[in-house]
Amino acid sequence: MADASPPRPSPDGPEAPRQVAGAALVSLRDVQKHFGDLHVLRDIDLTVDHGEVLVVIGPSGSGKSTLCRAINRLETIDSGTIEVDGEPLPEEGRALARLRSDVGMVFQSFNLFAHKTVLDNVTLGPIKVRGLSRSAARAEAMGLLERVGVANQAGKLPAQLSGGQQQRVAIARALAMHPKVMLFDEPTSALDPEMINEVLDVMVQLAKEGMTMIVVTHEMGFARRAADRVVFMADGQIVEEASPEEFFTNPRSDRAKDFLSKILTH
Ligand SMILES: Nc1ncnc2c1ncn2[C@@H]1O[C@H](COP(=O)(O)OP(=O)(O)OP(=O)(O)O)[C@@H](O)[C@H]1O
Ligand SMILES: [Mg+2]
Repeated sequence: MADASPPRPSPDGPEAPRQVAGAALVSLRDVQKHFGDLHVLRDIDLTVDHGEVLVVIGPSGSGKSTLCRAINRLETIDSGTIEVDGEPLPEEGRALARLRSDVGMVFQSFNLFAHKTVLDNVTLGPIKVRGLSRSAARAEAMGLLERVGVANQAGKLPAQLSGGQQQRVAIARALAMHPKVMLFDEPTSALDPEMINEVLDVMVQLAKEGMTMIVVTHEMGFARRAADRVVFMADGQIVEEASPEEFFTNPRSDRAKDFLSKILTH
């Protein structure tokens, strides 16, 4: 998983527990976000290193999606800083478009363009944003569709595919932009059970290849197989951070214990 990343942690001082110089790909410092009176992100300090796979888990409404959306600036924040690859998030224009391609995002609801074929869904961004020729974009897209196991669906419309296939197309579409980090927001929670694994398998493979990933999921099997670290959120705060093994077998906070007892009995 983290094969390509430098060893962690190698603190250069007591104040810098996880910070390896130059290794953080995504970093959030003292991030605050309100929706009206609701404080949805509180004092968020988080770094994700190159090649690291971070699983974010927590009850409904705890701020997991808002956190993901803030990282590619689908949501603005009130204060604090978010950096991707050492650069603060751009506010607008071309720099923002570049950020959006650096930070791939896969949503629960697939979000494919309904009136475009699978192949066109994957080639659109590379042609428009990366400036690839149509033929180069198609060749690369077919390779990606092959990789996620849906190359034989390239000419179809999204609605003609199963949910698991659509989600794998969504992953291919994000990868076509050559992202530095991939965000997954509950990518399997809208899927029928028999389709969950075909999506998780693609994600595990990506993790093995060294992709930096932030994954909101309650799939403990995935967390155990692929995550380097688990972050547990509640009420907009990071309550716990641990290895998957430690978190699932020995959660420290009452909130996490309570949450795990609920998801484990489902
Ligand atoms: N655009 C918005 N306007 C107002 N409130 C919002 C908005 N988006 C989210 N919220 C609220 O912010 C809080 C955090 O929402 P968020 O979607 O980040 O939670 P979540 O942890 O992803 O939950 P879930 O597990 O249900 O997806 C919730 O109370 C939600 O109702
Ligand atoms: Mg959510």
